[in-house]
Amino acid sequence: MKLKSFQGKLAVVTGAGSGIGRALALNLARRGCKVAACDIEPEAVEGTVALAGGGRGDQVRGYVFDVSDREAFFRHAEMIKSDFGQPANLIINNAGVGLGASVREMRWEDFEWLMGVNFWGVCYGTQAFLPQLIESGDGHVVNVSSIYGMISGPLTSAYNAAKFGVRGYTESLRIEMRAEGLPVEVSCVHPGGIRTNIAKSSRLATSRGPDQADFSKWFERITLTTPGKAAAIIIAGIRRKRPRILVGPDAHVIDLMQRTLGIRYQWVAGVLLNPLMYGKSKNAAAASPPSVPAAPSPAAGKPTANSKAPRKRAAKAAKRAADGARAEPEGVA
Ligand SMILES: NC(=O)c1ccc[n+]([C@@H]2O[C@H](COP(=O)([O-])OP(=O)(O)OC[C@H]3O[C@@H](n4cnc5c(N)ncnc54)[C@H](O)[C@@H]3O)[C@@H](O)[C@H]2O)c1
Repeated sequence: MKLKSFQGKLAVVTGAGSGIGRALALNLARRGCKVAACDIEPEAVEGTVALAGGGRGDQVRGYVFDVSDREAFFRHAEMIKSDFGQPANLIINNAGVGLGASVREMRWEDFEWLMGVNFWGVCYGTQAFLPQLIESGDGHVVNVSSIYGMISGPLTSAYNAAKFGVRGYTESLRIEMRAEGLPVEVSCVHPGGIRTNIAKSSRLATSRGPDQADFSKWFERITLTTPGKAAAIIIAGIRRKRPRILVGPDAHVIDLMQRTLGIRYQWVAGVLLNPLMYGKSKNAAAASPPSVPAAPSPAAGKPTANSKAPRKRAAKAAKRAADGARAEPEGVA
């Protein structure tokens, strides 16, 4: 177990205008690390730079760009190296957004927005900075996944897809760095519930789930860990070169549950999460199309005279569902 000093190193933190990213930037700055704090929100990133202040001069600098814009990310990698006059040692791909939508209702534009930030943004950040990390001789990639990169829940398919993707991509990168003997450590971070702004800025594009206000209240109630505590755990994990960093007691419980139950975790997740995610729905019956019936099983045998009635009902329901889906407004968010 080798501890690492951050003094004089250069760290790049995305999503540094709020929550976990801001807390990471401030913690690293206190340790004498130079920090490029990046965010899409200019005022948020200015706030982080101001908070880091305290006579630190140019030690913490703000950069504004969209992590889902590949060219912008690569341009900024060059700019950051030239501004600080040294290659980056650490990239923390932390920027992220939330989306609540069922697979049935999800709009492609919402799905693509989420994947752009939460998945592609992580890949762009990793690949834009990898040459600098190697050049530094002491590099570290830290990609932020989630407990939703270990288990799935209802209405979170896009988030799950991105976070499982981040985990797979990051774990593969770690094996490659080892195999190629390159001086780059790699960690994947799986936070549990952290009390940040993510619920407030999430898109809720579902007629069956909670509304924004209920979702934010619920999120506040179930989150156990502050951003400051999360940053301290992540930084301890980086210093210990951990491949997987679990953040918060709930992350440890979920990790254990997934490993002991295997795929049967889905039953527990359904029992715990369905009432939370669907329970508060005020307009589920009115706003959502009727559910599409399951296709008849091929094992069901030859149709009998009686079996025509259910099939007719199923065909009618399917038509109603299609009509309902057509009548659904462009966006339900
Ligand atoms: N808060 C939690 O409970 C929790 C749990 C698991 C994982 N996470 C992950 O932790 C990370 C940080 O989230 P947080 O909870 O601190 O959220 P947050 O909303 O407080 O902060 C996210 C930051 O990312 C920035 N951002 C959003 N889109 C961006 C873009 N396109 N380009 C650049 N910056 C962008 C936002 O402006 C914001 O400052 C995310 O990847 C999130 O998925 C959070």
